[in-house]
Amino acid sequence: MNSDGGFTIGMPPVATTYGSDIDGLMTWLHVVMVAMFVIWGVYLVYCVVQYRAKDGERGTYHQAGEKSSFIPDGIILAFEVWLILAFGIPMWSELKEETPPAKDSLEIRLVAEQFAWNFQYAGPDGKFGRRDPKLISASNPMGIDDEDPAAKDDITTVNNLYVPVDKPFILRMTSKDVIHDFQVTNFRNKQDVVPGMMTTLWFEPSTVGKYEIACAQLCGLGHTKMVGNVFVKSQAEYDEWFKEELEYKLAEAEGSAASSTS
Ligand code: CUA
Repeated sequence: MNSDGGFTIGMPPVATTYGSDIDGLMTWLHVVMVAMFVIWGVYLVYCVVQYRAKDGERGTYHQAGEKSSFIPDGIILAFEVWLILAFGIPMWSELKEETPPAKDSLEIRLVAEQFAWNFQYAGPDGKFGRRDPKLISASNPMGIDDEDPAAKDDITTVNNLYVPVDKPFILRMTSKDVIHDFQVTNFRNKQDVVPGMMTTLWFEPSTVGKYEIACAQLCGLGHTKMVGNVFVKSQAEYDEWFKEELEYKLAEAEGSAASSTS
């Protein structure tokens, strides 16, 4: 059982609105796969018994070039195509079509790299500061251009994603180097993060808590260590966190401006 009463097969608790639908799909696929296994098993035993060696009977075998029946394979093929068309694709397109409008969501940019997750939040102005690969450094892994007025109130984090509960958030994701894959098992969805391309993924967290972010695409020697955390907080706690980060950032910018003019 998961937190909202749905049945799951060995999965950690669901923490998003659509998570139990995904679990329902996975449970259904397991049920029909077990059914297929049992039917094939029974058929196999039937054949072994029915066509066993008997006194006075000689086996007949197909000659080279002679066609065997495609019917059993055809049934399985049709069944699996039906599973994909009737359940898999509709679920996927529903998730994609139901991407919440940007105005009702928190939009966060994600830049993956070997081996970290970098997040950028637009500040109170709602605008993301410009990014420029030429500005990338150890202290500025996303290459955010601090000269851009829109960047002044942006917040960045590494490996820690903070989001409010009961509000959709949309990740706009890209990668600096190789293909990574953003996965939060409790959220029941994942998406490749591809260099030179923007992919999106959305969630509406339904339960406050801390959940692990994992990279689900083999991306190099540090792949298994490419982990992070998503902290789902109440709206008030999230606002408090954001305010503190912003104050820290503004104070730091002021400090460096003061030291550069002195
Ligand atoms: Cu990034 Cu595996």
